[in-house]
Amino acid sequence: MTSSRAQWSFFPPPNPSPTRGEGSDGLQRPLRDLRISVTDRCNLRCSYCMPREVFGRDFVFLRRAELLSFEEITRVARQCIELGVRKIRLSGGEPLLRHSVERLVEMLAGLSDSGGKPIELAMTSNGVLLAKRARALKEAGLTRLNISLDALDDAVFRGLNGGSAPVTAVLEGIAEAQAVGLTPLKVNAVIRRGVNESEILPLVEHFRHTGITLRFIEYMDVGSTNGWRLDDVVTAQETLTRIDAEYPLRPVAPRYPGEVAKRWEFVDGGGEIGVIASVTQAFCHECSRLRLSVDGKLFTCLFAAEGDDLRGLLRAGEDDALLRQRIAAIWKRRTDRYSQLRLAQTEKPHEKIEMSYIGG
Ligand code: GTP
Ligand code: 5AD
Ligand code: SF4
Ligand code: SF4
Repeated sequence: MTSSRAQWSFFPPPNPSPTRGEGSDGLQRPLRDLRISVTDRCNLRCSYCMPREVFGRDFVFLRRAELLSFEEITRVARQCIELGVRKIRLSGGEPLLRHSVERLVEMLAGLSDSGGKPIELAMTSNGVLLAKRARALKEAGLTRLNISLDALDDAVFRGLNGGSAPVTAVLEGIAEAQAVGLTPLKVNAVIRRGVNESEILPLVEHFRHTGITLRFIEYMDVGSTNGWRLDDVVTAQETLTRIDAEYPLRPVAPRYPGEVAKRWEFVDGGGEIGVIASVTQAFCHECSRLRLSVDGKLFTCLFAAEGDDLRGLLRAGEDDALLRQRIAAIWKRRTDRYSQLRLAQTEKPHEKIEMSYIGG
């Protein structure tokens, strides 16, 4: 098979549309996912997310009193589930830096939909602290884990993350997560032109035949500190072509409507990979994600400039019905589709919120 095989045109037809109707936003998209950022801190300094020049010693992170408590987060999550949320993902910053995050996992794992079905509870972590925490997370009720890893070569990895941790720490974390059954496990790699392109094939070779799904993410213009340029993006098409030339691929149907990653499998049975083409193949038309920031603001888009404060309501002692009404109203007026507009945009981009704060 030739490398021309892995073309977008080989994808299965677009995902079936999610159920429309009551509870949908201004573009007829239902609310299904809630991403919760539990801390704005991170133990790494990836240049594209928290560059050391900006997030250095003098950077002022949020104070503890400014963060939503576990009880407050759980209250918001419960109302979101009533409004349709079926998947909750904890992120950060680095979620394992939030003190006793396992207790929050336990509280959220106790939530279920109106039919009594538990919701899916996932986490995205950089994996550095995972080796010691994986078992407790599993026991607390975490259902799935995605781990960010942009390089296998230790020098490249350290160069990317500000030199704060060795790649072996992440690999040990991944091994432990697999050992305790935090599966299916996914590994996310953001590829940037001239920075870690050379890591694509080593990553593929490392994770083939392991049951772990490696996903390549197009570098996005999140926040205002990463100096993003379109030229830095290695497109999903290019990544697939490179992989397919060595390890032939074929497309796999999406698992559910609105799945962010497009799935591919190795023809030789080596398992599955994914690509997240948020720049070249925007998926806003199916975006069912709501984001809760560390300090209790709701954002209806990863690229939003402003969020709606819920912390004030929570701390003013308002009841659940009012809280739910407020969230429903925020979702109803939502018309965000930043990624789809991005390439067509000619005007200067607006100031955006940093990813470590909004939670990726
Ligand atoms: P799964 O449930 O395992 O499919 O997770 P996920 O892909 O939704 O979550 P993850 O935290 O692993 O995110 C992977 C990448 O997709 C990250 O770079 C995210 O920022 C990006 N991503 C997730 N949701 C969105 C979104 O709504 N818009 C955009 N533009 N990117 C997103
Ligand atoms: N573009 C694409 N992905 C990013 N991530 C962080 N910043 C960016 C960016 N600018 C990824 C992390 C992690 C996920 C939550 O988001 O690597 O896997
Ligand atoms: Fe931390 Fe993840 Fe941002 Fe890297 S990408 S600085 S690991 S939050
Ligand atoms: Fe959703 Fe905004 Fe991402 Fe589009 S850019 S997929 S609307 S979060």
